[in-house]
Amino acid sequence: MFLKSIEIRNFRNHSFTDLVFNSRLIFFIGDNGEGKTNILEAVSLLSMLKSFRESDEHQFVKWNEKNLYVKGKFLSNNENHTIEFGLELNPIKRKKVKWNGELIKRQRDFYGIIPIVILSPPDLRIIDEGNEARRLFLDTLISSFSMEYAEVLIDYQRILKQRNASLKILNGTRESIELWNPQLVSKGIKLFELRGAILTEMNSLFHNNVQMISEGKDKFFIFYEPNINDPNEFHKKLQNSFQKDCALGYTSVGPHRDKIPIGLEGKDLQQIGSQGQKRSAVISLKACAFHIIENRLGEKPILIVDDVIRELDVKRREFFVEILKRSGQALFTTTDLEGIQNYLGGSTFDKEVFKVSSGQVTRVESA
Ligand SMILES: Nc1ncnc2c1ncn2[C@@H]1O[C@H](COP(=O)(O)OP(=O)(O)OP(=O)(O)O)[C@@H](O)[C@H]1O
Ligand SMILES: [Mg+2]
Repeated sequence: MFLKSIEIRNFRNHSFTDLVFNSRLIFFIGDNGEGKTNILEAVSLLSMLKSFRESDEHQFVKWNEKNLYVKGKFLSNNENHTIEFGLELNPIKRKKVKWNGELIKRQRDFYGIIPIVILSPPDLRIIDEGNEARRLFLDTLISSFSMEYAEVLIDYQRILKQRNASLKILNGTRESIELWNPQLVSKGIKLFELRGAILTEMNSLFHNNVQMISEGKDKFFIFYEPNINDPNEFHKKLQNSFQKDCALGYTSVGPHRDKIPIGLEGKDLQQIGSQGQKRSAVISLKACAFHIIENRLGEKPILIVDDVIRELDVKRREFFVEILKRSGQALFTTTDLEGIQNYLGGSTFDKEVFKVSSGQVTRVESA
């Protein structure tokens, strides 16, 4: 996958940014707060139809403007495609997506059609915040290449929400709550199976990556501790926890409680990892994501790297360069170019550098 150009109108602090890319490595440099990450965010809108930053969509549109527009031209398996994303705030919030010029009705079918892998400092929460953040990482990854998973996940979450709402109704009957069980079980089992398959695939990949970054020192694993393993068990657990769930006001069993330990047997990096080990684990996970997406789609995702370079020590940079070598194209932000040649390991990648200043972007000719 190769991003050939992007047009950005009234997104964040970019009023009018038009960029053409000819290289595999694209750098955005500039001081803090100038609008570098905003460009990566615009790319993520084209891929995920939402931002990779947790943020209120109302904040996307440039202040004092009413709508935003982003258009990307991509080369995918030697075919040209365009994707356009528009967001209107007035009179009501409305999102429009066009694929090759045609308005898309079911936007969720286009989620992940432009495969990207993002590496940014907040990713550390996958380790620090434990299971919830890890389930989200996994769900986002699998949804990006499996429409089936994306749909099952949405269905499961909707049924769970309805069941939880029934649990909160005072004097609700047992029937009105258990009504949801069969659907919850059938969708939940699918989640369990698909998560299990991906985590099995990830296990040795992750272990090898972590070892490689640490020169053999860190022998961490990613494990899967599903909350339920088969439909009968899930049914029984739902029945057994009925009183407890009523008291809690939510459903206490199911794949929304799956655990994904990362570290050593019985010892999670959340508790025992050093900052460096946690970073290594995150980079390893993202490298797994890259590999898995590439395998499934038969195409390399675009790598989006926000502010990560400076945080890496020499060894991790080397490993990172290995990922870069495999990537179709990579977009970075950094405050200055110092150390970039070292970091690229003297490789001869073609690269383009753009300077970002108050939402204005200029090409830097001789970087
Ligand atoms: N809706 C908006 N309209 C106008 N400006 C906005 C909007 N949302 C955010 N901004 C501005 O965008 C700037 C932040 O841009 P961005 O996060 O891309 O910075 P950055 O160059 O990545 O900085 P850093 O190096 O600190 O990460 C801020 O100055 C912020 O005020
Ligand atoms: Mg930034």
